[in-house]
Amino acid sequence: MSTTETIRAYHQRTKHQLGAYARGPEYLDWENQPDPFRRFSGAPLNSLPLTPDPTAGEAVFDIAGISKLLELSMGISAWKQFGPDRWALRCNPSSGNLHPTEAYLVSHGIAGLDDAIYHYAPREHALEQRAELVGGESQCYCLLALTSIAWREAWKYGERAYRYVQLDVGHALGAVRYAAALLGWQVSLLSPGDAAIGDLLGLSRKGDFEGAETEQPDLLVQIHTVGSGLVETLPEGCHWRGRANPLGGEPALHWPLIDEAHHACREEQPDHQPSLAPIDLSREWLSRLGPLIRQRRSAQAFVAKRSSLAIASLQSFLVALMPQNGRPPWDLWPATPRLHLALFIHRVEGLVPGLYALPRRIGLQPELQSALNESFLWQPTPITSDVLPLYRLAEGDMRKVARTLSCHQEIAAASSFSFCMLAEFDQALAQGPSAYRHLHWEAGLIGQAAYLEAERIGMRGTGIGCFFDDSVHLALGIEDTHWQTLYHFTVGFPHIDTRLQTLPPYAHLGEGATA
Ligand SMILES: Cc1cc2nc3c(=O)[nH]c(=O)nc-3n(C[C@H](O)[C@H](O)[C@H](O)COP(=O)(O)O)c2cc1C
Repeated sequence: MSTTETIRAYHQRTKHQLGAYARGPEYLDWENQPDPFRRFSGAPLNSLPLTPDPTAGEAVFDIAGISKLLELSMGISAWKQFGPDRWALRCNPSSGNLHPTEAYLVSHGIAGLDDAIYHYAPREHALEQRAELVGGESQCYCLLALTSIAWREAWKYGERAYRYVQLDVGHALGAVRYAAALLGWQVSLLSPGDAAIGDLLGLSRKGDFEGAETEQPDLLVQIHTVGSGLVETLPEGCHWRGRANPLGGEPALHWPLIDEAHHACREEQPDHQPSLAPIDLSREWLSRLGPLIRQRRSAQAFVAKRSSLAIASLQSFLVALMPQNGRPPWDLWPATPRLHLALFIHRVEGLVPGLYALPRRIGLQPELQSALNESFLWQPTPITSDVLPLYRLAEGDMRKVARTLSCHQEIAAASSFSFCMLAEFDQALAQGPSAYRHLHWEAGLIGQAAYLEAERIGMRGTGIGCFFDDSVHLALGIEDTHWQTLYHFTVGFPHIDTRLQTLPPYAHLGEGATA
């Protein structure tokens, strides 16, 4: 079997069906949940400075600026408490709040930081120094890498977990891009290939991970100020320190399919061209971004009665998801947009409830039309324009359909609208199996944009990874794998659970920490 066939088989096998969910654990042993916080024992810990409001003030490209970047992207945003249970939420969302994504920083010439390779410890808001740097370039630079510990998701979700891990990577990448934008910085995808990222971060140093869960390299970006160049040669680490902590969990249950899937879609070679075009962001857009990043949460439930949304709000939400809008996070994503939306509009003033489509690539509409049910209407709406090719496909109350398709989850129906992200699956995979990961990253980026834009229009969103794949395809008239749904999302007026107590993110660090 070719690697592309392997990943296609993975996708097929991990579909949830109306009558049967993808293979996962029969029960969950909550006592044995894998530790969501990785630490490297023996690696020197460098605390990052906390400020009362990391979204305020000038951002300088030094340790204080880097601290803000990490806090606002991969850091803790709040602690929640219910009875004796207490758990952290982070600026980046994660399926099941399990957080498989780890972040690393490679800094060179940055004031306040050694020239070193660091692992970011979000609970401590600190950098663990894994290695000193040798080689590379003389310029000042900051690289940020994301890796995944798939076991954290597999523990709960079994074989389907690899998809969620990749969606989470896309969310984290989006979170990094938004935080950098707030600080006036750019983010460029370097994509040197998995092996190069693994070598740079020391992921293949077997002794450092003995008895602990391994990490898979995902992506490498450079954080930089406008006008500064990109590194051409990656540095290397020396004088490595620290051993990864075992994360725990049920060792008897392993999911070899996840390793197979990862092996099949490893990124052998770089295939993205970094984009360096400076973008001009409006003051108004930027001024509201900080609070949105800090307040982002997933809605647990919606107030159905209040869920009627103004059509102009829907319009600005959808425009923000279009890659041509020139705004983050799309400026860092150089690949052709391959994900398009099918929307279930439930309650939007001025729009008839029904099924709608939004191709995210201008000019794609005829192709999408020929792929979907031929009885669909393809009528323009009052907000359809050259930059927003939104079409009505069918009229009707879609709440029941949306709920059923999203694994019977009420949040898909009690919202103002929900949507699924349809990927040009066959076309993308024709370019090689690593496209499977890129499709999920793009879906995660859309999800991250959707989370923040939902907050911007006074609503709240929730990513939905649980859906009955082929039932969605059937509802849309898709009969083969040319188009596949990869991720769902829902937006509405949140019902706030007042039984939950909210605690500040870093009060646990004691003296000197700020709420
Ligand atoms: C990829 C992904 C899939 C998710 N799937 C679901 C889902 O099917 N149902 C749900 O209620 N929440 C879902 N969520 C929301 C997560 O449970 C939520 O992000 C997590 O609990 C952390 O909470 P926060 O987003 O408020 O930080 C998903 C989130 C992500 C990123």
